[in-house]
Amino acid sequence: MLKPLRKAVLPVAGLGTRFLPATKAMPKEMLPVVDKPLIQYAVDEARAAGIEQFCMVTGRGKTALIDHFDIAFELEATLAERGKREALALLREEAMPPGSISTVRQQVPLGLGHAIWCARTFIGDDPFAILLPDDLVLGEVPCTAQLAQVYNETGGNVVAVSQVPREQTNRYGILKVGAVDGVRVEVTGLVEKPAPEEAPSDLSIIGRYVLLPEVVAHLSQMERGAGNEVQLTDAMAKMIGHAPFHGLKFQGRRFDCGDKVGFLEAQIAFSLARPDLAPQVREFLKNYVNS
Ligand code: G1P
Repeated sequence: MLKPLRKAVLPVAGLGTRFLPATKAMPKEMLPVVDKPLIQYAVDEARAAGIEQFCMVTGRGKTALIDHFDIAFELEATLAERGKREALALLREEAMPPGSISTVRQQVPLGLGHAIWCARTFIGDDPFAILLPDDLVLGEVPCTAQLAQVYNETGGNVVAVSQVPREQTNRYGILKVGAVDGVRVEVTGLVEKPAPEEAPSDLSIIGRYVLLPEVVAHLSQMERGAGNEVQLTDAMAKMIGHAPFHGLKFQGRRFDCGDKVGFLEAQIAFSLARPDLAPQVREFLKNYVNS
């Protein structure tokens, strides 16, 4: 019987150097897109896919992320006292069930693979999703739910993929592609950050995965890959041939919020997707760009 997907690992130990000074005293995952921090988008997306248990892989200076998912008792009491019912309802709606978030510390920045390995006790023998909060996906069906559906049908590993310009393959994990079935592609190889001339395709992994727990055993070898880091991509590659492995050309648009321009694009796209803000934002953009 297929084990249900109920767990997600959120790697959040990165320093956020590209967003200094904003991230000097605040985790980059707390940067808001419109009015919600990046980490909350990731958690909301995962919950919409049926995920119930979360593990944040944190580092020093990341306490705000843990506080964010706690109940802000004083704030709620003040809102109640002042009759701010809408704000209060918003907080309550997003409250996490007690005990649903745990954290581990990565301690040393040895790469994404090492971060996931740090969550090995949480993962145990269960399939799990990974969401990199820097990557935001705007679409009708949440990206993790799209991956969960493939997992439910294949019982194997699945990663969200999108096409990138050839000259950018050295920024991503890149797929070697086998049989193609509509939006689903069979993964026959994986390479982390290949040079354009060595890339086996232009299909890149974005920060959404559903993986089988067997990946942990491969990560435990602590082999160093691209950038001398322990790469998740290399550990995933070792599972090819042992269990189904697919890339999903997901429906939706991905924004790289780890990049300044990507982050700004996300602000615009997400505000235009909000009925309460779209008319004013559209009007502003039209006038401002033409002025
Ligand atoms: C990581 C992964 C890479 C993936 C990317 C998606 O790279 O190692 O395979 O394509 O996330 O955002 P990073 O952005 O941490 O360098």
